Amino acid sequence: MKRVIICLLICTVSLQLFSQRKLTVIADKPIAAVAPTMWGVFFEDINFGADGGLYAELVKNRSFEFPIAMMGWDEEKVNYQKGRILIINKSDNSNNSRFARVSITNAEGNYSLMNEGFRGMGFHQGKQYELSMMIRTGNPTNIKIKIQLLNYAGKVIGNGSLENFGKDPTAIGWKKYSAMITTSDTARRGRLNLVFEGQGVIDIDMISLFPHDTWKTRPGGLRNDLVQKIADLKPGFVRFPGGCIVEGRELANRYQWKTTIGDAGDRKLIMNRWNVEFPRRAAPDYFQSFGLGFYEYFLLSEDVGAEPLPILNCGMACQFNSAEVVAMNELQTYIDDALDLIEFANGSITTKWGKLRNEMGHPAPFNLKFIGVGNEQWEPQYIERYKVFEKAILSKYPDIKIVSGSGPFAEGEFFNYAWKELKELKPALIDEHYYKPPKWFFSNAGRYDSYERTGPKVFAGEYAAHSKDNADAESRNNWEAALAEAAFMTGLERNADLVQMCSYAPLFAHVDAWQWRPDLIWFDNLNSMATPSYYVQKLFSTNKGTHVVRITENDKSLSGKDSLYSSAVIDKQKGELIIKIVNSASTSQQIEFDLKGCKLAKAEGSVETLATNDIYSYNKVAELEKLKPGEKKLLINTNKFSHSLPAYSFSVLKIPVSVK
Ligand code: AHR
Repeated sequence: MKRVIICLLICTVSLQLFSQRKLTVIADKPIAAVAPTMWGVFFEDINFGADGGLYAELVKNRSFEFPIAMMGWDEEKVNYQKGRILIINKSDNSNNSRFARVSITNAEGNYSLMNEGFRGMGFHQGKQYELSMMIRTGNPTNIKIKIQLLNYAGKVIGNGSLENFGKDPTAIGWKKYSAMITTSDTARRGRLNLVFEGQGVIDIDMISLFPHDTWKTRPGGLRNDLVQKIADLKPGFVRFPGGCIVEGRELANRYQWKTTIGDAGDRKLIMNRWNVEFPRRAAPDYFQSFGLGFYEYFLLSEDVGAEPLPILNCGMACQFNSAEVVAMNELQTYIDDALDLIEFANGSITTKWGKLRNEMGHPAPFNLKFIGVGNEQWEPQYIERYKVFEKAILSKYPDIKIVSGSGPFAEGEFFNYAWKELKELKPALIDEHYYKPPKWFFSNAGRYDSYERTGPKVFAGEYAAHSKDNADAESRNNWEAALAEAAFMTGLERNADLVQMCSYAPLFAHVDAWQWRPDLIWFDNLNSMATPSYYVQKLFSTNKGTHVVRITENDKSLSGKDSLYSSAVIDKQKGELIIKIVNSASTSQQIEFDLKGCKLAKAEGSVETLATNDIYSYNKVAELEKLKPGEKKLLINTNKFSHSLPAYSFSVLKIPVSVK
């Protein structure tokens, strides 16, 4: 019996030695510099990503501008003996034309108005929340507004009040009142209740409730945990505001950056195109308040150290929807939007748009370097419009890098046509999109190995592995999808001379309000969760290195042969060799690495690994994350060392070296 076991052990060991694969890294002959913009993020207001998500406002329809003026609001089990509400339209063509007039008719009773938030409001115990409101009273009044923060069961977990309006002689015009409220408990689906006491008439507008702890404690700012997740990626760029939202279903509801800046209360609300896009996932209460507008996007990019990458409408609405285009002789407004945006971002404070940036609080330029013209457009109607944009932008701003698009498909007639035409023009980068099954990502890891090198660079601007249709609730961010993305991304990195920007899409999704999945980061009103795809992105973006070097097996790059995918970079600043390697096999693989052209600087490196045998598993919001990278020491004392890659794994090996 003993003999049999020993024999079995010897056989296994020799089989492993025999099957050990040999990979060679040439560390001293960089094949490309890694663009600082290589790994970025794609932000779009989809899945309640902005209103109800990143933008920390808790009140939905805060100024009664939704087409259904009282959407999101509810009067207390209506008792018209106590009070009444009237929505008044000033018809003054302003962007915030409606307000509410509350008449309290019975001093004995209370009249209340409740806001449901974005699928509830999230309140954290012991935190401060600031309620503010524009108020106008014609005559002195003894009205007092009690502010109550409620949990789902209706229990009051935070109290405050606004009063003394009538006694203020300046109160004949609109005036902002505010109160800070501290919560005694946590609620994920809370609400705001306003109780009107006293007697009289009061006008109210812009009823707003924000956590005090926003990102950088900016009043009216962004949700801290969500920005932190972006910041942790150390993105090279932030692409905004999308996506299809740029195009609009029709031109009338396209994204127009000029209506998204200035005072938040004056920004013109429009319907969010994802409100009606998927009937199975309809979101009738989905609008864009633009509280998170272009100024805030620039600020966000600056905060996280990323290049801002605005994408602008090119005179075309979504071709999957209305396919409406603006006539060529009416394109000037759209061109002006692009030129004015560059002035807004970079112009001195004496210019018209630079002055506005200064007034908003940012005298220094944002140093915009890139601008995108159009999103998923196709056929000649795009190219002819693009040409006009290109000419206008480059003649005024020759250093701006233009990002053009190849349409929604990763190959085929539209894609080939766009590349053929754009290669003759001067875009710095061409945006490619691929939402494909995991299998596609595994088998396309070599996609860019044979791309032509003479034309524009590639922007892998939207991608994600989809195991099911994007409106299917079972389309999960599982490990299979993330592993496929990691395999594909080794191909992006290997071709960093050509591929200079990449972003997974979309970035965010609210668990109770999504339209499209999978997504990189999921959240509810209290918590946020990083998906396995997020960790794959993070492992690439925080280990991007400075130069790509060759890693080969039998002198061939690793693009899926016998389930291995790999790329390697040198970080010249950190003195580190970084190897990224995917094993997509259901068994572990033993690798012998041979590092040439470098000296080990220390006998200790590290390896971060993401792995599970359950390839369909995924992380859930508000639960312990099942899948996240684990870090271990990597002890090596010669340039040749052996390392075992677990089944279904993605590993990042970091080795301190000095390069000859
Ligand atoms: O990322 C979601 C959508 O996918 C984007 O809005 C669009 O550009 C693409 O079709």
